Amino acid sequence: MSFPKQFLWGGATAANQFEGGYQEGGRGLANVDICPSGSDRSAIICSHLKTFTCDEHHHYPSHDSVDFYHHYKEDIALMAEMGFKVYRMSIAWTRIFPNGDEEEPNEEGLQFYDAIFRECQKYHIEPLVTIVHFDCPMHLIQTYGGWKNRKMIDFYLRLCKVLFTRYKGIVKYWLPFNEINMILHAPFLGAGLYFEDGDDEERIKYQAAHHELIASALATKLAHEIDPENQIGCMFAAGSVYPYSCHPQDVFEALKKDRESYFFIDIQARGAYPSYAIKELTRKHCMPHMEDDDNAILKKYPVDFISFSYYNSRCVSGQKEPEKLTEGNLFASAKNPYLTYSDWGWPIDPLGLRITLNHVYDRYQKPMFIVENGLGAIDTVKADGTIEDDARISYLREHILAMKAAIEEDGVELMGYTAWGPIDLVSASSGEMKKRYGFVYVDKQDDGSGSMQRIRKKSFYWYKSVIESNGECL
Ligand code: BG6
Repeated sequence: MSFPKQFLWGGATAANQFEGGYQEGGRGLANVDICPSGSDRSAIICSHLKTFTCDEHHHYPSHDSVDFYHHYKEDIALMAEMGFKVYRMSIAWTRIFPNGDEEEPNEEGLQFYDAIFRECQKYHIEPLVTIVHFDCPMHLIQTYGGWKNRKMIDFYLRLCKVLFTRYKGIVKYWLPFNEINMILHAPFLGAGLYFEDGDDEERIKYQAAHHELIASALATKLAHEIDPENQIGCMFAAGSVYPYSCHPQDVFEALKKDRESYFFIDIQARGAYPSYAIKELTRKHCMPHMEDDDNAILKKYPVDFISFSYYNSRCVSGQKEPEKLTEGNLFASAKNPYLTYSDWGWPIDPLGLRITLNHVYDRYQKPMFIVENGLGAIDTVKADGTIEDDARISYLREHILAMKAAIEEDGVELMGYTAWGPIDLVSASSGEMKKRYGFVYVDKQDDGSGSMQRIRKKSFYWYKSVIESNGECL
């Protein structure tokens, strides 16, 4: 047996990294719009904000991005040409509710997504919709403090209700939050959180996380009530954590690090705070405040499937800080000497994907969906206009082989695979354009120049044949 017949092959994007048009169609300002590219970005996405506005000294990549807002027909046609069965995309919250707390949605914003789904339908591409992919209306942040405030649950559910109702029968797969565990690592980007002097940041993050977890459970309830066909998945930034050595302290540290992420999925998939978290959070005085029926809500509405992004594995030591540190999807990690690294220093570990798939499946026994994977790299357009991105092909081939082995040899249940950024888009961690993931090159450069022309890379034809052969031609 190889990939199941109905396996969902495709690609994934996020509104703030892809759409642009940040002031068009009545769209309001979001946290992602005040995150610049360049050296100041990382402090801001990690909540060290000095201001809530944009200035003329910085470039803000979400503002025009790669202009999917005006290129969506061409872009979805390119996805269709590759044979996509599924397109994972996200809704820009501020297109639907520009401030976030209005009673009525912005019709123009809804019409934009109507048009996108129409294009998908035209090519029989199933949409997989992330409701919140790192965006939060600035008005909700400035007026209510973002997800640290419980009122966010109601604003978010209002958005969900509008989406589930409007797109009933059109969208079946929904992800309430992208990389829900990112709230711990990049809280402004992940949840619109900012901190003031003297704040207990850890406590605030877990309180905000609790609100998102309740929101996710109630969104699951609502989705099923509005259309029993709906399938809801949690989504986390995955990548198993390896011990730096077989020293028991390293092994235990790795287990604890993994639990930092599994904490969220334990709640979304199993429906209860895990005992290790209750102990740890209580010890640290970070156990969130809960309302009377919160535990019942979490128990009653677990997700239907588990989705995750996988870029790399991680590595930790419990003894002393290992000398060499590296980055991978905003997670610091000890440098694993057995792996090679991307140009951005992210480890490359295809077997790690098989290990992660097995860990997640062993733990939850629910269908899984890999909703992000890929290699961020520099691409060069040759004089004849072609782009030979062999390193990307090799990265993806090895990861698809690992996923195939997990299905065939280990028996994990996998619904689909969406490669990250099938059409070049802006990097979330760095805000750069030159960190490209796509099968399609976009002529847009870091200084904002470029014609936005789309050019098929070598990997475009390769991925097309992967999909055509249902993963046999690799
Ligand atoms: C994930 C995010 O963290 O990784 C995406 O869900 C992001 O939004 C992707 O783009 C790759 O990271 P980066 O920093 O290379 O864009």
